[in-house]
Amino acid sequence: MRRENVIGRANVEDTPELEAYYASLEGEALGALWNVANEIEPWQPQPKSVPVLWKWKRIEPLVRRAPELVAADKAARRVVMLVNPGRKEWSAAAGLLYTGVQIMNPGELTSAHRHQASALRFIMEGRGAYTVVDGERMDLGARDLVLTPNGTWHDHGIDAGGTQCIWQDGLDIPLMNSLDANFYEVHPGIVQQPSSLSRENWGKPYSPVFKYAWDEAFENLKTKGVLSEFDGKVYEYRNPLTGGPIMPTMGAQLQLLEPGEQTKAHRHTGSAIYQVAQGRGRSMIGGQRFDWEEKDIFALPSWAVHSHANASSSEDAVLFSFNDFPAMRALALYREQPA
Ligand SMILES: [Fe+2]
Ligand SMILES: [Fe+2]
Repeated sequence: MRRENVIGRANVEDTPELEAYYASLEGEALGALWNVANEIEPWQPQPKSVPVLWKWKRIEPLVRRAPELVAADKAARRVVMLVNPGRKEWSAAAGLLYTGVQIMNPGELTSAHRHQASALRFIMEGRGAYTVVDGERMDLGARDLVLTPNGTWHDHGIDAGGTQCIWQDGLDIPLMNSLDANFYEVHPGIVQQPSSLSRENWGKPYSPVFKYAWDEAFENLKTKGVLSEFDGKVYEYRNPLTGGPIMPTMGAQLQLLEPGEQTKAHRHTGSAIYQVAQGRGRSMIGGQRFDWEEKDIFALPSWAVHSHANASSSEDAVLFSFNDFPAMRALALYREQPA
């Protein structure tokens, strides 16, 4: 129990009589709100997630060990998860977002399946990777973004003539589980037969574009990015039909920090997972300093004060990130504040 000596907040002292009363409440699956009210209704968000930086240098050897130890088909998805120490029970990297690093060898494939969780992949390295979404095959190279929206059939693989490939998966699995709304199905055919997907009268709640190639996205960032004093130059991946986010629960964006740039600090509701696409720099998150370079991944918990800086005086730094802002906005929960 956390007592607060503030009008309107719970401040009840324990007595032997009350303790006996609490015991009888508990026996009937009841409880006294005043014992938990201050905790379950905090003055502001109290994320269990902590800011975390996963240095690629440290996790890469462990990721590369996985194919030596586990067969792709046995694992179904051979992924090393990034687990926030405060969110282990949800397998979340921050808030209700999951992320992992998947590694596949040439000729390997992930059998076709679909799930209620929305998913995206940001390719880190390798040649010959492809994803098939609702029958449509997309070839993927480094830093391409591909969506496998909620409910779409998808399978992944690496062409036999390709190289070992690594990418970052981002999903809202913890969100689906916290809402008790998750489903999972395997495709009867192991892999999908290639077909072309009709975009006519597109009524789906997600973008009709599944692949966002790096070259084009990077060009859009440079030419159409919106300047923000908190985030640098920002380009959001969008659903071209609506101008809205790529998927109903998750958004993604690129941020460009010019040489030497240091952003102002702000905070917002909603969590984000970053991957450094290019360059090196640092982010201050919740008062901690994180120095990052290419392929490092870091977690931004909701409502944590943060700012970013490019540590190079000659080269741009580019951050890729995905977030749960569309879910927050759909529920009218998005708030932002300068720090
Ligand atoms: Fe999947
Ligand atoms: Fe931010």
